Amino acid sequence: MNKKYILLTPGPTPIPPSVLKALSQPILHHRTHEFGAVFEFVAGEMKAILHTRNPVLMMTTSGTGAMESSVVNLLSPGDKALVLNCGVFGERFANIFKAYGLNPLLLSSPLGFAASKEEVDSVLKQNSDIKAVYIQHTDTSTGILNDLEALSRVIRQRAPEALIVVDAVSSLGAEAMDMDAWDLDAVVTASQKGLMNAPGLAFAAVSPRAWKACEAAKLPRFYLDWRTMKNSLKDKETPYTPAVPLVVAQAEALRLIKEEGLPNVLKRTADMASYARAWAKDLGLKTLAQNPAHILTAVYLPTGIDGNQLVNSLREEEGISIAGGQEALKGKIIRVAHMGYISQEDLKAGLDALKKRLSPVLEKK
Ligand SMILES: Cc1ncc(COP(=O)(O)O)c(C=O)c1O
Repeated sequence: MNKKYILLTPGPTPIPPSVLKALSQPILHHRTHEFGAVFEFVAGEMKAILHTRNPVLMMTTSGTGAMESSVVNLLSPGDKALVLNCGVFGERFANIFKAYGLNPLLLSSPLGFAASKEEVDSVLKQNSDIKAVYIQHTDTSTGILNDLEALSRVIRQRAPEALIVVDAVSSLGAEAMDMDAWDLDAVVTASQKGLMNAPGLAFAAVSPRAWKACEAAKLPRFYLDWRTMKNSLKDKETPYTPAVPLVVAQAEALRLIKEEGLPNVLKRTADMASYARAWAKDLGLKTLAQNPAHILTAVYLPTGIDGNQLVNSLREEEGISIAGGQEALKGKIIRVAHMGYISQEDLKAGLDALKKRLSPVLEKK
């Protein structure tokens, strides 16, 4: 018998039926009033979720493309920037910098820890010429949540003109975000996680301070040039052909979020996170993140369990897809997501199936 496929990975996440249906609508031409109305709705609703009055740009790329756009549009050769590294995605920022010949300062947190505001303050104190600070809101590799409000306060006190650039790829729609109140300069995100859409669409919200930097920036850029995207906003379109079905589907996903109410979406996500943490505690499994985000729960596996094998057998034998560890954490941890359209029932089914496989090993200990 075909089992129901349950997707509990931290991106892509499951897609609501009405969003799937929107993905299969006949294609609109992208230089029409019809598409313009969809584009305008998406841009407006993205502003609402980000809590910003800044323009929101749309790009046909995955989250990494949006991250890259936040480097090439804001910096020039020789600029000094600080990357707060809390896992794989902080390292990705650093790798993007290196690809463009920049050598960022890296402030790495111990495994499972969020960025320390005291350490950020101390680095900024010693480096008054830092032009920008790059931060993950949530690092999906460990499940940590960075306290953007507190970090921004420290940065603004020590380096008032430094740009604060945030990767909210895995946090938006799952964690509270208040771009304007927290005085953030650029926030980038993507469609396939809390935004409940298929992968392939990305966004960047850009503050006036960041626009000034964008005009002066000297790194090479073409497809990801925010200036051309901004120019097209008045015509309610993108400079080049967008992934039309993804934009149409994003409008439907954002309509669903609006209908449920963002505070209710965030509460539902937080409730599922509490459920998963109670499950881990009950089994005696150690969680990885010290300041855990609501997006996922990462737990260390007991010795004797191979994480890769566990993830594969759960998917192949029960149709339940969870994530293992990345890079140094491969085989050692599992990550179970609870964001976006993931339901309490599916989360429970996944955690029950995991418990069945882990209990015999845990009981022997
Ligand atoms: C925090 C974070 N940043 C960036 C990315 C990269 O996004 P993509 O895989 O869409 O390029 C991801 C994807 O997992 C992510 O979780």
